[in-house]
Amino acid sequence: MINYGRKVQSEVYSRKVPNNIPVPFEELERKAKEKLEDGPYYYVAGGAGGEGTMSANRVAFNQWQIVPRMFCDVDHRDLSVTILGQTFSSPIMLAPIGVQSILHPEGELASARAAATMGVLYMNSSASTCSMEEVADVMDTSPRWYQLYWSKDRDVAASMLCRAEAAGYSAIVVTLDTPMMAWREFDLANTYHPFSFGEGLGNYLNDPAFCAKLQKPPKEDMRGAISLWSQIFGDTSLTWEDLKFLRDHTKLPILLKGILHPGDAELALNYGVDGLIVSNHGGRQLDGAIAALDALPKVCDVAQGKVPVLFDSGIRRGADVVKALALGASAVLLGRPYAYGLALAGEQGVQQVIRNLIADMDLTMALSGRKSVMELDRTLLVEAKN
Ligand code: FNR
Repeated sequence: MINYGRKVQSEVYSRKVPNNIPVPFEELERKAKEKLEDGPYYYVAGGAGGEGTMSANRVAFNQWQIVPRMFCDVDHRDLSVTILGQTFSSPIMLAPIGVQSILHPEGELASARAAATMGVLYMNSSASTCSMEEVADVMDTSPRWYQLYWSKDRDVAASMLCRAEAAGYSAIVVTLDTPMMAWREFDLANTYHPFSFGEGLGNYLNDPAFCAKLQKPPKEDMRGAISLWSQIFGDTSLTWEDLKFLRDHTKLPILLKGILHPGDAELALNYGVDGLIVSNHGGRQLDGAIAALDALPKVCDVAQGKVPVLFDSGIRRGADVVKALALGASAVLLGRPYAYGLALAGEQGVQQVIRNLIADMDLTMALSGRKSVMELDRTLLVEAKN
């Protein structure tokens, strides 16, 4: 990806590539609001409670400022990163986002195709409306990880792990911050819960272990399937010892998503996990929680490079990516921006969002005086004076 940012700039300015969704994040969100009904829009845009965590996520980025260096020969830049033995052309991945069918008729298939075209890793959510196998089919051999919501029903959890491996997913991302859904004020006000009308259940409705527990197949009794799903969705009784169950049921590397406390990072290492994702679910789960970026440096200090530390929650622009990498992240996950791209222009929209972010990141890195992701470290940043 040599000079990717300049290439994209010149293609956009000369109208050689599609540029039909807003480039600024705020505009992207505004257009998505115009296009979507309140239910789906706020399902994406809203956060938990008073949205304190969501706001903190953005404020945290402004607490760090880049101090650029000059005369650094940044002519040839390398954005590539290697994570768990896989090399990616940029440090940007697509975060797991469930129920994408509420945003676009093609749902996850459009996002997965866009990720594959852009050479970006796609994390498929347990709560996808399309099944993990359908997503895998449109991705051919492109890289993908499976995000597990650990079902209370162990047969279902084990079955999903087995299916993910068979469908070519190369790692399991276990999301820990959502054993239950948080208090989401907009969704409650809009009485909007897409799962209750059958969206986001693609991984369950064809699962042999899940179907074996139903009185009638989902095609004959969707209500029964939805009711079983709501009983087994999350498991609030899990402890660190339960990780053994996952190890016993998959050979794939396991990453834990939702780590914010350095003590949890330490436990995760002791229990032999293969990677950490610092995240607060974009402020959609625990209201009042620490900004994910504020949690990142301490988690990285614990990890000491023994396992990759990925980051999400608040990534909107290239400077955000550069700051997160400088604070120790190995790669970042993009969330809401691609959901809005999907809502506005399907696969093309997601592609444009990814393209713009990589280009912005490349230019920001170059203007900082760094020519590779390897060169991004804490010496690049100072804490802002308020
Ligand atoms: C999510 N996220 C999420 N995470 C996860 O592990 N499994 C999931 O199914 C979902 N679903 C989901 C739906 C929607 C609509 C959103 C916005 C987010 C969280 C996601 O992976 C990521 O952590 C956040 O999106 C990061 O925050 P920002 O950067 O999008 O604000």
